[in-house]
Amino acid sequence: MDKIVIEGGQPLRGSVRISGAKNAVLPILAATLLTRGRNIIDGIPKVRDVATMIQLLKDLGAKVESNRNEKIVLDTSNANNTEAPYDLVSTMRASCLVLGPLLAKLGRARVSLPGGCAIGARPIDLHIKGLEAMGAKVWLEKGYVHGTVDGGLRGTQFYFDTVSVTGTANLMMAASLAVGETILENAAKEPEVVFLADILNQAGAKIEGQGTDMITIQGVSSLQPIECHIFPDRIEAGTYMIAAAITEGEVLIENCIPQHLEPIILKLQEAQVDVEVEDSSILVRGGRPLQAINARTHPYPGFPTDIQAQFMALMTLSRGQSIIMETVFENRFMHVAELKRMGADITLDGNTATINGVQGLSGAPLMATDLRASASLVLAALGAKGQSIISRVYHIDRGYVSMEQKLSDLGARIKRIK
Ligand code: UD1
Repeated sequence: MDKIVIEGGQPLRGSVRISGAKNAVLPILAATLLTRGRNIIDGIPKVRDVATMIQLLKDLGAKVESNRNEKIVLDTSNANNTEAPYDLVSTMRASCLVLGPLLAKLGRARVSLPGGCAIGARPIDLHIKGLEAMGAKVWLEKGYVHGTVDGGLRGTQFYFDTVSVTGTANLMMAASLAVGETILENAAKEPEVVFLADILNQAGAKIEGQGTDMITIQGVSSLQPIECHIFPDRIEAGTYMIAAAITEGEVLIENCIPQHLEPIILKLQEAQVDVEVEDSSILVRGGRPLQAINARTHPYPGFPTDIQAQFMALMTLSRGQSIIMETVFENRFMHVAELKRMGADITLDGNTATINGVQGLSGAPLMATDLRASASLVLAALGAKGQSIISRVYHIDRGYVSMEQKLSDLGARIKRIK
């Protein structure tokens, strides 16, 4: 299994180009199952979760006409299989995004219960309840979610007890081909959800209210194939912004949407990191003493849970005490034990981490545990003195495009070993 070796202490300098958003392309790929024909998606990030989703679509009968550079042409004319097998779904929770499209288009689905990052229980009860409210019969058997629909899905009014990003995407896709009107309340407002709604509308769907917590969908009888370009990944951008800060370097983050990054920009500025925002790029300059600040994760437009681990790595080197609360997932502190092994001073109490800034971190052998925790360890290792060897880096490959290449282009001393 691959490992990443990092010699810390090198300020990063230069520019880095942000790739397409993983969490935007996954639902778009699932949405191609609502169509019949040639879907063309550009700006695709070449990460393992995307490869997994493409394989899943192939298993469901879609044909990949071409998949070169960042562009895929996917023909769904014969996408008539309804089973998403365990070996694919177990590696990626977002595979459950095919559930809604399969039930809406084919009236049947058999999807393995998802795996993915081990960050808490992460049930999909809301996806299932919503589909049931639309008239699907859903039951669990031998680790699989089975669903059938008689006579097509029907519009409904559904309230999400908890804001769910993929839950909102799943029901929005299903409702696009349902009969009548669906109203989703307490819906997710993430840019990835808004993008999915906009692209479905371009394909003929009738969705309103995306970006607010109430989304209304008038069902239509069919959708045209999708053509779109995926927007830049806000979490990847945030991770490189923190990389600049933690190494006291100066990095231009190119190809990003600053508006999506507002909560991260504000927190970095509060911590005394210099951040200059342009139309589609952000210059981040570290070097001033880092100020300890508090953060609390929240669904968009709040501070993203997907950047919590990386931000905590930065706060380990701040002056004073910071408190970070995780309110979205109940078990998303697996990076803490590893950061402490590097010399960080962190105590945990339930969903709250108290971080007392230390003078420096020291390199150590480290274990990646989930996608964003791994990124946090890479950042800590970049800012530490000495060598770190990070194992289980397949977690990083799930969501970051060529991370060690991009960092090495910025001057980091980083390499991958087998
Ligand atoms: C998505 C993102 C992930 C991000 C998360 C929160 C994708 C592919 N992944 O994950 O990177 O960390 O949003 O921003 O877009 N919940 C339930 N029942 C459900 C669904 C969710 O209780 O049926 C709970 C979860 O356990 C969690 C909270 O709701 O506590 C939010 O989860 P959700 O927004 O659904 O996360 P994902 O969509 O899986």
